[in-house]
Amino acid sequence: MSIEAKVQNIFPLEADVPKTARIAPLEQKEYLVNGRIKAWSGPRHEVLSPVCLKGKKGLARVRLGSYPLMTEKEALEALDAAAAAYDEGRGLWPTLSVEARIAHMEDFVYRMKEKRAEVVNLLMWEIGKSAEDSAKEFDRTVEYIVDTINALKELDRNSSRLSVTQGIMAQIKRAPLGVVLCMGPYNYPLNETFTTLIPAILMGNTVVFKPPKYGVLLHRPLLEAFRDSFPKGVVNTLYGEGRKIIGPLMKSGKVNVLAFIGSSKVADLLKQQHPAPHRLRCVLGLDAKNAGIVLPDADIDLAVGETITGALSFNGQRCTALKILFVHRSVQSEFLEKLVTGIEAIKLGMPWEPKVKITPLPEAEKPPYLAEVIADARKHGAKVINEAGGAANGTFVYPAVIYPVNARMRLWKEEQFGPVIPVVPFNDVKEPLKYVVESNFGQQVSVFGKDPDTIAAMTDTLVNQVSRVNINSQCQRGPDIFPFTGRKDSAEGTLSVSDALRVFSIRALVAAKESDANKKLVRGILRGRKSKFLSTDFIL
Ligand code: G3H
Repeated sequence: MSIEAKVQNIFPLEADVPKTARIAPLEQKEYLVNGRIKAWSGPRHEVLSPVCLKGKKGLARVRLGSYPLMTEKEALEALDAAAAAYDEGRGLWPTLSVEARIAHMEDFVYRMKEKRAEVVNLLMWEIGKSAEDSAKEFDRTVEYIVDTINALKELDRNSSRLSVTQGIMAQIKRAPLGVVLCMGPYNYPLNETFTTLIPAILMGNTVVFKPPKYGVLLHRPLLEAFRDSFPKGVVNTLYGEGRKIIGPLMKSGKVNVLAFIGSSKVADLLKQQHPAPHRLRCVLGLDAKNAGIVLPDADIDLAVGETITGALSFNGQRCTALKILFVHRSVQSEFLEKLVTGIEAIKLGMPWEPKVKITPLPEAEKPPYLAEVIADARKHGAKVINEAGGAANGTFVYPAVIYPVNARMRLWKEEQFGPVIPVVPFNDVKEPLKYVVESNFGQQVSVFGKDPDTIAAMTDTLVNQVSRVNINSQCQRGPDIFPFTGRKDSAEGTLSVSDALRVFSIRALVAAKESDANKKLVRGILRGRKSKFLSTDFIL
């Protein structure tokens, strides 16, 4: 069957969906606020899967259920619950010992793991991520929580002693910041939401979290775990249209930390709404347009393999995806030929199919958008060079390799966030370097080549442009213990297992002149275990 025919027949009949993957609609009529799962009787948002089924009337997206469309009133209720639980730093949670907070989090992970199958299936149906990758996202998140707990133990152990300098004794630790508003992206609705939510909670902050626009229902099975694992008000959930419910939270001035993964445009809008921006700390993962640079001496098979996974994993919907390729003219024919052949070997299909790589897209506006940027590239002299590249059927778009791309095309600057690979030929390495220097984005880059002098010189230029230079490897966030950040419009703050604990806390110390009276006083506090902060207890 031709690729075009495969695309046109990509969606199954209802009867073709395997029993193990089937899903019943989930009508979510509740939300978590102040330690209670409250009933919601207001309007709800209908959730449609990117997966379509063939029916008598043609293709129809599968209805997955609905979730509450909350209003400003409930949003402020959630915020007030978080603010009351924090109580200006005097609440139960921010004053609890690190060891006790860890025990609550361990309880949460235990309960979370029990919901694995349900969450993974919802994740697959809500955003069209393959079953294998959905399971990986869940497991990576659990591992992230466990690693974060271990990193916090280590951090606490390292500060479990007093230092004495210039006649002053001090104990230096980290203290929470206040109320954190957490919003993750739809491409990693569980993992990226939790990579801010979990460290924020662990450090003693209280949280309001709003799931992304797609990937909402998968959080429902975890509400009871949040309610039963943490004191009331520590975790509160919000559902609805960001425009209506997030603005009032920011304007209230009660949000101390904005943890947001999405577009820089929205991040700017939110930051500006805060009445005292100097009080707002931001942890942001934003836009990116990571370039891949293929040098004349590159191992072409390796570069092609990394390009395919780098540009097309989860259909190119990763902030770290390779979104533009610069290929030296001397190797362009070989590179393009192998790239096209490699793409033809990729499995397309429904997310439950084993080994499937290209699946339907959750954003209804994405297929027409991709068609537009491909048409724009064609207008400016590029061609789609792979068979059926860009062929679309409902929510499904077949990957397109666009060549040769130039600065007049939208694909030069826009973050396509989808299965389109723009390829730019170059003669001199200064050309891709100029692109990276002039770009508004500054997340990562991949360089493919073998010559140590060239790679070293490029590395030294590129590390001041982006935050991670990948040599003969695709761009990626992991391993999660590595710092993940970006320059320019790409990020604010650094996330990793240990960095995240730092961004959601502030250094605080207790200091006293080394007089006999103070020594006696401090000794009394330590021996009597009278303080949770001023304490030399060592977490085992
Ligand atoms: O969407 C951006 C993610 O942080 C990418 O993570 O590189 O592990 O897919 P990843």
